Amino acid sequence: MLGRARVLTLVLATVASVAFVSSSGSAQQAPKMPIADGELHLGVASCAGSTCHGAAAPLPGSNVLQNEFVTWQQKDQHHKAYEVLLNDRSKRIARNLGLEAAHTADLCLDCHADNPPKDKQYVTFQVTDGVSCESCHGGAGRWIGSHIVPTATHANNIQNGLYPTDDPVARARLCLSCHFGDDTRFVSHRIMGAGHPRMSFELDTFTALQPAHFTVDRDYRQRKQAANGIQTWAIGQAMSINVILDTMLDPKRGMDGLFPELVAFDCHACHSPMSALEWAPRTGTAALGPGTPRFNDANLLMLQVITDQVDPGLGRQLRDRTNALHTATRADHSAMLGAARALKGVTAQLINLFAQRDFKAEDMKVLLDGIVANGLSGEYVDYAGAEQASMAIGTIVTAMQNVGALKKDQMDAINTALDKVFEAVDDDEKYRPQTFVASLRGFQQSVR
Ligand code: HEC
Ligand code: HEC
Ligand code: HEC
Ligand code: HEC
Repeated sequence: MLGRARVLTLVLATVASVAFVSSSGSAQQAPKMPIADGELHLGVASCAGSTCHGAAAPLPGSNVLQNEFVTWQQKDQHHKAYEVLLNDRSKRIARNLGLEAAHTADLCLDCHADNPPKDKQYVTFQVTDGVSCESCHGGAGRWIGSHIVPTATHANNIQNGLYPTDDPVARARLCLSCHFGDDTRFVSHRIMGAGHPRMSFELDTFTALQPAHFTVDRDYRQRKQAANGIQTWAIGQAMSINVILDTMLDPKRGMDGLFPELVAFDCHACHSPMSALEWAPRTGTAALGPGTPRFNDANLLMLQVITDQVDPGLGRQLRDRTNALHTATRADHSAMLGAARALKGVTAQLINLFAQRDFKAEDMKVLLDGIVANGLSGEYVDYAGAEQASMAIGTIVTAMQNVGALKKDQMDAINTALDKVFEAVDDDEKYRPQTFVASLRGFQQSVR
């Protein structure tokens, strides 16, 4: 059983340091990734004191929970990220890639640990801590002292090198820099061929799954940006596409010999049994013919529904440019690059647009209906689309519940139906489009 936990698909990397507009509306330089922030990294021990973030249970009367360390150590997979580099699967990957060992290779450590340059590792720092506090919150060298004085503000802390994890755009870039890759760290198809698992990501779902070691309450809203789940999801979808397109457009990563980097394509277009005979035309966007490796458009399918609601004009542009990219992948390489660049022009705009948008209960209902309707009409026959759709539905249901848009006495039926949706995508190798569509039909009835 998975609940809304074990759901998975595809994922993506990072925009080079282009200016972006944060949700607060100000144009600013995208913040540096923690791994390369130029700050001194102190290690988890510096955060874990029992009067700091290592309390056994949330401390009453404090702005923050203060048991973040315990949550991370006991419930958060990031705590084990270094350890997995010692297991048999990692040994096999390392052997297949000709690495001496996974746990000493920067190729692996850059995502499975906090791994800043040696001269930025303070004496208390330990790479064996895995993906630790400073992998996300930035090297604490300058803010460790200043963030605990009573007059400290979030803005001061950020000035002192704290990464703005509360900003959904910055958060999306951060998570995707490891959960897909960026121009400095990347899981290519070769690394997957060596045995690395397929990656799957959805920003809002994964923020909840981590699990969150923070609560968005009144004082949080006063101190920080508190994006709702829909905004987080929407920005995550647009950023995901952006980072896949960055990969295609990157001269270093975009090609691998004769072929384009296959990580930008739908894994299951190639990796499914020949006897399955399940190819079916898509009804809506991008009706590609059979036997074609297809650009992984799972996030685009979600993005289309969101954009049609937020800005129908841009929605038409997005649809045209998505179709143009699919068509171009059957033409030639330079056509593909041109189409990728054109599409990126739209997704970059969308990130800014979503960052400004106050998503309301009416939006949520439209988005939910749109995704379910597309699913029922056969848009998500490919596993990756179904996987994203299931996470999207989970995210929207939670957001609707939070704003009181669903009736309490509906919730049992909705949750049971939702479990079926997640079950249908639990294992990509057993995925059957008909089972997924049937689960969507059940879900549709439960929200009536
Ligand atoms: C771009 C970042 C990135 C790089 C580079 C990377 N990984 Fe990973 N790795 C991840 C992420 C993210 C996951 C979790 C995927 C998920 O669950 O969706 C993962 C998962 C894994 C797993 C499965 C862990 C488990 O709990 O089952 C293994 C094993 C692994 N990686 C080994 C390696 C090895 C060995 C290398 C170096 C050759 C490497 N990784 C390089 C990001 C990366
Ligand atoms: C994988 C990324 C990640 C890791 C690892 C991580 N955090 Fe966080 N943390 C977040 C995100 C995302 C938030 C929510 C956004 C925010 O408040 O900035 C957050 C919020 C917080 C908050 C703020 C709560 C509030 O109410 O303002 C504290 C304190 C915190 N984390 C401490 C820690 C500590 C201590 C560790 C290590 C034991 C840690 N975090 C590890 C991502 C991470
Ligand atoms: C420094 C790289 C890095 C960053 C940044 C990062 N992650 Fe991860 N994350 C990983 C790796 C590696 C794993 C796999 C760990 C393992 O399997 O032991 C992982 C695992 C996870 C898992 C568990 C997935 C599963 O299949 O069980 C969740 C959830 C998650 N990350 C959420 C997030 C979120 C949300 C963010 C951004 C706030 C984030 N991560 C940022 C590297 C990172
Ligand atoms: C265009 C077709 C194509 C796409 C798209 C594709 N692959 Fe592959 N994949 C291949 C080929 C060809 C091989 C090599 C098979 C062999 O060595 O026999 C391979 C090998 C692999 C292997 C090693 C299998 C083994 O038997 O050891 C893994 C794992 C893998 N791919 C994962 C993925 C993932 C994950 C994705 C999506 C992110 C993906 N592939 C996308 C064609 C593709």
